[in-house]
Amino acid sequence: MRIFKFLMLFIAFQVSAQQGGMWIPSLLEGMNEAEMQSLGSKLTAQDIYDVNNSSLKDAIGHFNGGCTSEVISPKGLLLTNHHCGFGQIQSHSSLENDYLKGGFWAMNLEEELPNEGLYVEFIVRIEDVTSAMLEGVTDNLTPKERQSKIDINRNKVVKNLKKEAWQGFKIKPFYKGNQYYLFVTERFDDIRLVGAPPSSIGKFGSDTDNWVWPRHTGDFSIFRIYADKNNRPASYSEDNIPYTPKHFLPVSLDGIEEGDFTMVFGFPGRTNEYLPAVAMEQITKKLNPSNIAIREAALEVIDANMKADDQIRIQYASKQARIANSWKKWIGENLGIEKSDAVAIKQQFESEFTKALKAQDKEQKYGNILPDFEQKYATFEAINIKRNNFVEVFIRTNELMLMTFRLVQLEKSLDKGEEAFEKTKKSLINQLKSIHKNYNATVDKGVFEAVMPLYADNTDASIYNKTALTNLDTALKLLEGDSKQVLKKLNKDAAYKYAKPMVLEFYENIEPEFQRINNEINTLQTTYMTALMEVMPEERYFPDANSTLRVTYGKVNGYAPRDAIYYNPVTYLDGVIEKYVPGDYEFDVPEKLRELYNSKDYGQYADKNGKIPICFLGTNHTTGGNSGSPAIDAEGNLVGLNFDRVWEGTMSDIYYDPEICRNIMVDLRYVLFIIDKYAGAKHLIDEMTLVHPKK
Ligand code: ARG
Ligand code: GLU
Repeated sequence: MRIFKFLMLFIAFQVSAQQGGMWIPSLLEGMNEAEMQSLGSKLTAQDIYDVNNSSLKDAIGHFNGGCTSEVISPKGLLLTNHHCGFGQIQSHSSLENDYLKGGFWAMNLEEELPNEGLYVEFIVRIEDVTSAMLEGVTDNLTPKERQSKIDINRNKVVKNLKKEAWQGFKIKPFYKGNQYYLFVTERFDDIRLVGAPPSSIGKFGSDTDNWVWPRHTGDFSIFRIYADKNNRPASYSEDNIPYTPKHFLPVSLDGIEEGDFTMVFGFPGRTNEYLPAVAMEQITKKLNPSNIAIREAALEVIDANMKADDQIRIQYASKQARIANSWKKWIGENLGIEKSDAVAIKQQFESEFTKALKAQDKEQKYGNILPDFEQKYATFEAINIKRNNFVEVFIRTNELMLMTFRLVQLEKSLDKGEEAFEKTKKSLINQLKSIHKNYNATVDKGVFEAVMPLYADNTDASIYNKTALTNLDTALKLLEGDSKQVLKKLNKDAAYKYAKPMVLEFYENIEPEFQRINNEINTLQTTYMTALMEVMPEERYFPDANSTLRVTYGKVNGYAPRDAIYYNPVTYLDGVIEKYVPGDYEFDVPEKLRELYNSKDYGQYADKNGKIPICFLGTNHTTGGNSGSPAIDAEGNLVGLNFDRVWEGTMSDIYYDPEICRNIMVDLRYVLFIIDKYAGAKHLIDEMTLVHPKK
């Protein structure tokens, strides 16, 4: 018995210790492959990434540069999140055809809707170009010399690059510039909207449930890739045909259970896992609190106005969601860092690093790094907070300040000549129009009164009664005439006069000082990474996310957020009905879905207990950009669609703790159920390959 207990502990430790990390798909052979297989995977490294044969990677597309998507049929059917396709769904919507509200389903190819500007990019192959990129880069170079050497090397790499005419490429630094990889890409520009559930399914729970478990959101939408007659990328044309992919993911009808292996394959945007403790402290104790305070002040005003007025509720919906998304994430990040004692753990790690330096006689070489971090972050703190607060107030929350910020840029553009001025003016006119599309001066004035005291001493809200900028017509009048006339008018405007000195201070003092120290810190971080991998080679190092294709893997697993509470890893349709609030903005449930629930008309999509699973949790290490990424089972089938993380675990961007970091996925059976039973789009199901790997 005791041996058994000991063994269990050992196994549990092994499993949790072997998780976390976002790995480069071309380098899985060896360590990752073995780890994945120990977690239950039956896939080989070549199944996932292969240059000569089709592999899983051929089904994974970077969706519009910010999200992930995957091909799920031989006819180029593409799956991503509802919130990733939100802009496209919205742009096809009108009061008569409100696809956000009612959903959209193309019943044949002719009904599929083109989307200007939308693209999907695949990775053809990945090459390690580290030695070519770092040739002649030595320790004694200054950061500037180092950069120019790298630029020269880069040109050589590009010159020698072999690729087809229609293909593109990217070269990106990894491990803080200690390694470089080249990606040959294929980009498709004719991507059409095929289907989207109503927001009451695709965004069910909205802000209240955002970043939170238990979750019941069907966060998916469907597109299709079109190619030319030779199956090559092409811009939109009526003559284009559905793309035949090199690989598409079969969809499993057997789903998952707690303990099952999953891998998430996608394009994570940005993480910072190798920060020193002092940086982590600055983020959680200084930056996050001041950013949270500014957004909280703004949200209080916006929320109250949205509740009181339907027109404002619609106008501010997406703005509010954007402000609230990061606000809520930062609160969770702080919570998680505190709960897991991450700063102390980092400090402990750093003292081990220092000990190792001593033992290996490398104090001379690397002993300055940690003290330098301390000193640099101390000088960085004030300017870092100041810059963050400026961005929060002038760019993220207050719209009048955003307009003045852009207008000062216009005035500054004249330094580059009349032509530059005219060009900036043109784009500014569009920006003003787009801001005013959903603008309410009363709300914005309230936001100003709430956030400005958190940035400046002078907070004169009377500018709202005098400025021309709160009305689109008068704002555009300011921009009529030549540069002289425009600048004369601008410099008489009350809001412009108020904001200009602060914007100039930003450009002349805040930003240059911030960049100067930030560059020094980045250089030091590069050396720190080199040192870590050299001095403590036994540690687990994966490169920080940088919007390139990565594999992350783990298990379906619940978690314990607080004492005596354990969260099960799967939610069911019963939970949707439990949360149902008739007519509610966040928790309404479409009648048709309630009917299907009542009649238990689940077809082949129920689990073995006769229930429809909605979402599930895994220990996959994900971040923003992984939205829309496929969750793949042990044999390479699609079982889920990644769309979020749990609140206590959002700290995984700077510290991954396998105890509480979980990603949230939609169960593919719910997706299929909605497509088939709710939307009646069975023809889409027929395109897919449905499998029963567990039978
Ligand atoms: N939190 C997720 C992400 O970071 C989902 C955001 C969209 N959903 C929402 N309710 N705003 O993007
Ligand atoms: N919702 C995020 C996205 O849009 C993914 C969630 C996360 O940050 O992990 O990419």
